[in-house]
Amino acid sequence: MSAQQEQRRLTAPDIRARKGGEPIVSLTSYHAHTARLVDQYCDVILVGDSLGMVMHGLETTVPVTLDMMILQGHAVMRGSKHALIVVDMPFGSYEASREQAFASAARVMKETGCGAIKLEGGTRMAETIRFLVERGVPVMGHVGLTPQSINTIGSFRAQGREEKDWGPIEADARAVADAGAFSVVIEAVAEPLARRITGQVAVPTIGIGASPACDGQILVLEDMLGLSPRVPKFVRRYGDLGPGIEAAIKGYAADVRKRAFPGPEHVYGMRGKS
Ligand code: KIV
Repeated sequence: MSAQQEQRRLTAPDIRARKGGEPIVSLTSYHAHTARLVDQYCDVILVGDSLGMVMHGLETTVPVTLDMMILQGHAVMRGSKHALIVVDMPFGSYEASREQAFASAARVMKETGCGAIKLEGGTRMAETIRFLVERGVPVMGHVGLTPQSINTIGSFRAQGREEKDWGPIEADARAVADAGAFSVVIEAVAEPLARRITGQVAVPTIGIGASPACDGQILVLEDMLGLSPRVPKFVRRYGDLGPGIEAAIKGYAADVRKRAFPGPEHVYGMRGKS
């Protein structure tokens, strides 16, 4: 196998083919430098609209724009070479009509070079997903807790906590899969429900606060690194980088204030010369 073949980027059909196979590893990234790190270990990098809350300090993802997604999607493409890059469609860029969704998705794909888009919603978005897929746009679905609907659902609480509420969520996942999505994110739903959906749909499920039985898992990078001020209860932290970063900044500020900051003489070997 040539080096060029080894470096081939994963595609939506590659991920689709992982149903029931090796678990799909996925994280978010919004920058070239984190993408470079994440790319070494992940199959899918999601440029999530969570960037609105994580990078910009917004209260919800609702104000995120298509331009914000395109700018960061492009950065992540530049920083990665192996993973499938999926860019989230932000609120208001796809819900009005199939045509609006196609125009927005085409812009995202042309301007970032990403391999797929993600959009939120189940049964209500199925027709749009079919329209996009038939026209060459690979779509990742997103059901369960759909944060862009915060103003109608009222809170970021887990969905399907009681068995009587499972039906519509199962129907959503099936509708997305039947419409041609290559995978579906299941966010914050009861574990047995996510397990059941995974058994029912023909495409890989990617869980976030869902079930270890899902075909893959995704987390927001900054949440699992301990960099986000508020994280959902289900997030397992794999790092605690906040205090380390703070200590480095504190050390730098102290050096500057003491005038102990190294000057160029240390760099250019001019020590002792005036
Ligand atoms: O925006 C995002 O980061 C997401 C993940 C939480 C799945 O949609």
